[in-house]
Amino acid sequence: MIKKGNLYYPSEEFKKNAWINNKAIYKKAERNPVKFWEDLAKELVWFKKWNKGFVHKPPYFQWFVNGKINITQNALDRNLEKRKDKPALIWEPEPIKEKARVFTYNELFKEVNKFANALKKLGVKKGDRVGIYLPMIPEVIIAMLACARIGAVHVVVFSAFSSRALNIRLQDTKAKILITADGYYRKGKVIDLKKNADQGIKKTEVKKVVVVKRANNPVKMKMGRDLWWQELVEKESDKCEPVPMDSEDLLFILYTSGSTGKPKGCVHTCGGYTVQAYATAKWIFDLKDDDVFWSTADVGWITGHTYSCYGPLLSGATFVIFEGLPVWPEPDRWADVIEKYGVTTFYTAPTAVRMFEKYGVKFLKGHKFDTLQIIASVGEPIDEAAWKWYFREIGKTKRPLLDTWWQTETGGILITSLPGIGPFKPCFTGLPFPGLKFEILGEKGKKLGPNKEGNLVLLPPFNPGLLRAVYKNPKKYLKTYWTDYGKRIYFTSDRAYRDKNGLIRVVGRADDVMKVAGHRLTTGEMESAIALDKDIIECAVVGIDDEIKGQAPIAFVVSKVKKSQDQIIKQVVFQLRKEIGPIATPKQVYSVKDLPKTRSGKIMRRILRKLFTGEELGDLSTLANSGSVAEIKKIVEK
Ligand code: PRX
Repeated sequence: MIKKGNLYYPSEEFKKNAWINNKAIYKKAERNPVKFWEDLAKELVWFKKWNKGFVHKPPYFQWFVNGKINITQNALDRNLEKRKDKPALIWEPEPIKEKARVFTYNELFKEVNKFANALKKLGVKKGDRVGIYLPMIPEVIIAMLACARIGAVHVVVFSAFSSRALNIRLQDTKAKILITADGYYRKGKVIDLKKNADQGIKKTEVKKVVVVKRANNPVKMKMGRDLWWQELVEKESDKCEPVPMDSEDLLFILYTSGSTGKPKGCVHTCGGYTVQAYATAKWIFDLKDDDVFWSTADVGWITGHTYSCYGPLLSGATFVIFEGLPVWPEPDRWADVIEKYGVTTFYTAPTAVRMFEKYGVKFLKGHKFDTLQIIASVGEPIDEAAWKWYFREIGKTKRPLLDTWWQTETGGILITSLPGIGPFKPCFTGLPFPGLKFEILGEKGKKLGPNKEGNLVLLPPFNPGLLRAVYKNPKKYLKTYWTDYGKRIYFTSDRAYRDKNGLIRVVGRADDVMKVAGHRLTTGEMESAIALDKDIIECAVVGIDDEIKGQAPIAFVVSKVKKSQDQIIKQVVFQLRKEIGPIATPKQVYSVKDLPKTRSGKIMRRILRKLFTGEELGDLSTLANSGSVAEIKKIVEK
């Protein structure tokens, strides 16, 4: 990398070999963004070409109107001619002694077709929603692709989410089929996933449960309802024609934390998402035929959908998925995986980087990372120390470090400097992808200039992969994204500013969403979960800074009955794990007598947060119960 002032640029050699290395692309895309995306769309296979690139009826819009496409034809069939015997998917199991499974493009194609045929036999039709509650094993990729092949809408639920979280998603989508596994490995232990799945399907419309045998743990199979994956696919033909899908047909629904207790189902469609996943994977990660791409994200999150499944396949690359934790059983397991498979592109979250850093460089001894070409980060702001460590120790100061900004809603990366162009700057996520119009707005929608922090918004024509709806909730769609600045401006809910070079730095959320280890949680959903405990009258959750996880939740609860602090902590933790999952485990729980409130009864979370930041608490006289603050302060300090 070449350093100029505080900016980094790719080396001449890197530049020469990159797909995109001329910054004229930005001007070209800006002149006609719709045509820009249409040109990219033309690189894919369509059953029928679209007749209009972009149509806008605020707050709704469409891309590639009347086009017919199937994402799997592009991800699989299209690669068969040139890459039939090339590895598409490499699976690294958690147990060190277990053998990896590798699928060539042809093998993956066949497995997807077999499972697609099995789904058809189970009665799954175009438009039906299919729940997928699987760990990071090859079958999760096969299941998603099989759904897409036959036009079913996949609804992937993170395998570490609780049965209750699964239940909410199955109820909302009315899925009739659930695909799950007996269990999976986590830190050497087998997690009984089937038990959770059985709980999660209660009071839903699920009629059939397909179970992958993964961990061989004993599970109860209900006759007539539960079927083993392996037995189902055995008999199926490996040929299944892809169903032509309208550009605007649903491809998948993925739930994410909303501003209230209930998660919202982000709806992604076939045409726009495919183009976006393809273009961003190819240009941003500069994927070529000899690349081995590893994104550490679980497919339960959007990063897993777009870059641990669709993006690399659409680019004809080889990609790795990993069942376990990157730091288990040894802190350098992730480094072993990179070297074992010759990973060229490594994509992870700042939390993981901080964790690697915490273990120390002694674990990097003996790891050369010779094959790496690009390293990248996602999910939360990356602080300067973590950026520099990642760049120095893993990037060896010669590889582009891409800080990629995007959201479940956007379907693919929207802001990051391109590796063959740059520039890269610590803490700055970079330039918007060509063709995108971002602005930073202040009070009353005033456009802000360099170094002024405001709300980050996206202007028409947006990006093809942006969500089209909140599933079955048009009000929420309108209110969350298209109300703050009107129906023509997409509000990201993030705070950001630009430097004088136009590089964007995303500072954090403008709403009550927390990013805990890169995972999205809201104070609202955590509070709703805690409030289900009948002993608790009131609660408030706030996110505070955390050295490793970026942010961590802290809960304050008021209990109806007198209980020990330990007992209350136990109950709150239990409740959060039951309703959401282990990712919602709070860093600390405080049992208090009263929460600070305004006279109209609104809980002042801002004040609670300040107790941890050391900031001035400000004027408390407007509170209805100002004495509560001093009391809470005492408890926190203790
Ligand atoms: O606040 C931003 C933060 O993560 C939010 C989106 O979270 P989620 O839907 O879970 O998707 C995460 C993975 C794409 C954003 O609104 N965020 C994401 N990437 C970055 C980021 N914040 C700062 N820098 C990033 N690179």
